[in-house]
Amino acid sequence: MKNVVILISGRGSNMEAIVRAQIPGAHIAAVISNRPDAAGLEFAVRHGIQARVVDHKAYPSRDAFDAALAELVDTLSPDLVVLAGFMRVLTDGFVNRYAGCLLNIHPSLLPSFPGLHTHRRALEAGVRVHGTTVHFVTPTLDCGPVVIQAAVPVLADDDEDSLAARVLTQEHRIYPQAVRWFVEGRLAVTEAGRVRVTGESAGPDGWTVPPVEA
Ligand code: GRF
Repeated sequence: MKNVVILISGRGSNMEAIVRAQIPGAHIAAVISNRPDAAGLEFAVRHGIQARVVDHKAYPSRDAFDAALAELVDTLSPDLVVLAGFMRVLTDGFVNRYAGCLLNIHPSLLPSFPGLHTHRRALEAGVRVHGTTVHFVTPTLDCGPVVIQAAVPVLADDDEDSLAARVLTQEHRIYPQAVRWFVEGRLAVTEAGRVRVTGESAGPDGWTVPPVEA
């Protein structure tokens, strides 16, 4: 069994998708939120998963918060730490501590639109294709090796909410897939920083296109 620790800050729908996927070989050791009011914590409790809070407001600095978070995470003997809507920028110290076993999901086709308000920026830029990326976390924000991406069309009448909803549906497909690959030991990062999915049924690794919607 691989211990998976999931960090959230709010709704937790990606965490939920990963839990519901019931990935063989993955034990969800805990869901940790930096916000006591994160809605996702309730889902974790209802599903018998250890739910913990490390409130960033209780710490005087980013370093102090990250140190407390790492202390808790380490007690769970994690094989994989999953950032699922965790809205805190982590220190290099934290990121390096879990190098190679820290995944994030970002709501854009990286390297386009790192940072916040990705859907609004995609609409403003007039792109025809948008999407989401699961990547290994490195110290540079939203910049680590790409594990899997899913693309969605940007429709003429889209607003931020409709586009976000279309992307989120894809997030819920690709994040469990990425975790499954990790747990199966099938992700390798090349020296050039590219992710290879090993194994027979890897298929078109790291790229999924949903059926185009009407
Ligand atoms: C997702 O869009 C994710 O890509 C981004 O934050 C959002 C979190 O949603 N990092 P949820 O909390 O998983 O529902």
